Amino acid sequence: MHTTDGNLTESDLRSKFLQQFKKDVSDGLNSDPKTLPSKYFYDETGDDLFVQIMNMPEYYLTRCEMEIFTEQTEHLINEFDLNTDEPFELIELGAGDGSKTIKLLQRLLERGHNFHYNPVDISANALQGLEDMLAEKLPELKVKKQRGDYFGVLSSFKGDTTKKVVLFLGSNIGNMRDEKASDFIYRLGANLNPGDILLMGVDLIKPTEIVLPAYNDSNGITAKFNLNLLKRINRELGANFDLDNWSHAPTYSEETGIAKSFLRSDVDQEVYVEGIGQDFFFEEGELIHTEISRKYNDEILKDIISDTNFYYKSKIQDSRKFFADYILIRK
Ligand SMILES: C[S@@+](CC[C@H](N)C(=O)[O-])C[C@H]1O[C@@H](n2cnc3c(N)ncnc32)[C@H](O)[C@@H]1O
Repeated sequence: MHTTDGNLTESDLRSKFLQQFKKDVSDGLNSDPKTLPSKYFYDETGDDLFVQIMNMPEYYLTRCEMEIFTEQTEHLINEFDLNTDEPFELIELGAGDGSKTIKLLQRLLERGHNFHYNPVDISANALQGLEDMLAEKLPELKVKKQRGDYFGVLSSFKGDTTKKVVLFLGSNIGNMRDEKASDFIYRLGANLNPGDILLMGVDLIKPTEIVLPAYNDSNGITAKFNLNLLKRINRELGANFDLDNWSHAPTYSEETGIAKSFLRSDVDQEVYVEGIGQDFFFEEGELIHTEISRKYNDEILKDIISDTNFYYKSKIQDSRKFFADYILIRK
């Protein structure tokens, strides 16, 4: 396995990342209302906490998509319409621990398909864990990992005419507002060729009693996950957030299908972020918006797709119809 991060060294990558992190935290905390981007959840602790979240009884999303990948693997592959002699690149955006994807990879290898697996993730730690797991479980798999923000790595696929299948699982698209999601899918398509495939896993709109606990579990793992963002800013940007003064505050509206996570300031407080050289004042009850997790139905999804260069081919659902993997084809 090799990385395709251009010629940048580990320390170049680290300093590029830190510059962006400072800028994003500064932009977010200087905006009104205050925000912080969810992609920074995933440091080593965040990756571990997310694996714990995926295993929580309340977090139905992973189990539903895992059911699709385990019980309908053949169906999924047949939807791709690939001949075994047609080489292709299997690209996964925000690959995480690859626990669902391995089912697909294994079956593709058994069927004798000729492909490379290209996991893309912003977390070096997640990519390393995935590399180790695949080397052990599927040593024959050809892997080309790419570390970076998926917006940044999309362009590296441009101009290559090999057939591509892009996986975007776990309802990661739901972390973007609809307009941004359309734009993202369009930009992805602009780097692909007609006939290329996007397999996009999305969570479906459901009652609050089912959705909200997935973002507010009884053991406080989702709270730790959200608060870990402040810990990371303390450690990497020299801030002095006192975690005892903050709480996890998620919401969900069944009407709009949108879940949001916030960090709530429990007191009036001032926080200094050394890396930015600025004090920030938070009033008691003030919220920092950290994540959006949009839920979909056919109408919302088709509306998002209508502004892009993809068309809808089909969808595969789990037995409870909580989750759907949509198969979209580049026009
Ligand atoms: C919610 S996890 C889902 C992982 C996997 N797709 C799944 O379905 O289980 C999100 C993953 O995407 C990565 N990620 C989040 N934002 C990203 C971004 N902007 N660019 C690249 N990777 C990102 C995180 O590091 C994490 O591994």
